[in-house]
Amino acid sequence: MELLNGKETSLKIQEDLKSQVEKIKAEGKRAPHLAAVLVGDDGASKTYVGAKVKACARIGYDSTEVILPGDTSQDDLLNKIDELNKNENIDGFIVQLPLPSHINVEAITSAIDPSKDVDGFHLINVGKLLKGRPTFVAATPLGIMELLKHYNIETEGKHCVIVGRSDIVGTPLSVLMSRKTNPGNSTVTLCHTRTKNLKEMTLQADILVGAVGSANYISGDMVKDGAVVIDVGITRVPDETKKSGFRLVGDIEFEGASKKASYITPVPGGVGPMTIAALLLNTMHAYNKVFYP
Ligand code: GUN
Repeated sequence: MELLNGKETSLKIQEDLKSQVEKIKAEGKRAPHLAAVLVGDDGASKTYVGAKVKACARIGYDSTEVILPGDTSQDDLLNKIDELNKNENIDGFIVQLPLPSHINVEAITSAIDPSKDVDGFHLINVGKLLKGRPTFVAATPLGIMELLKHYNIETEGKHCVIVGRSDIVGTPLSVLMSRKTNPGNSTVTLCHTRTKNLKEMTLQADILVGAVGSANYISGDMVKDGAVVIDVGITRVPDETKKSGFRLVGDIEFEGASKKASYITPVPGGVGPMTIAALLLNTMHAYNKVFYP
């Protein structure tokens, strides 16, 4: 069994981006600039946005953190988005999810200029993804593709079983993995909460992806011998032995799955850091106006 080290791979991608930024700056041009909007004070969201901003600093991007109170109205948030859309010094921006319940997420993601939508959440970008046109791909599925690429994981003709059909992870990943690309060219099965005999499905997976957001949803006995195991889940589970009071647990029971897997992502340190690398890649694409693939 080999660990798919997302932390190391992410840092390698960041090193490469850092060199590109140095070259850009040496030519006298401004650096790529990412902005992140955070509404309210959800602990996990604050951590994620903090990590994104820190990564920008590490590689020489400019970054702007926009922190708005939890009772910000939808109109005020739309005004802020309009401002960021018009700001020519900002190449891309994200609005961190989840948003407070009084705000309509679809109204927000639809208001972002698609050419600055480095999260790849806008309807136009999702449509382009489905049509195989160059676009921004959401950070988690893109990060997974980059991880598979980095480790030269063979995906062609393999059976990729994805558990979880969210519009930001499972669904776009199912599109990417079935595309005529490398990585890609897999036969994809998209499972979800209404799937009958989930174990029967997961036991057929050459590549198994857990993306339901529920701690240890997939047990070790549901993993096929030799499978490549990708765990997207990062659920906070109370743990008094930790200073933070919690530990992070994936969707796939690591202890059992690691005994079966040929490759497996740890949690934390697997897919999580790759999402940061993917966001930074998308920001460079926005800066250069060149998109994936
Ligand atoms: N919340 C969890 N994942 C994401 C993400 O990729 N982008 C944004 N904006 N919010 C998130």
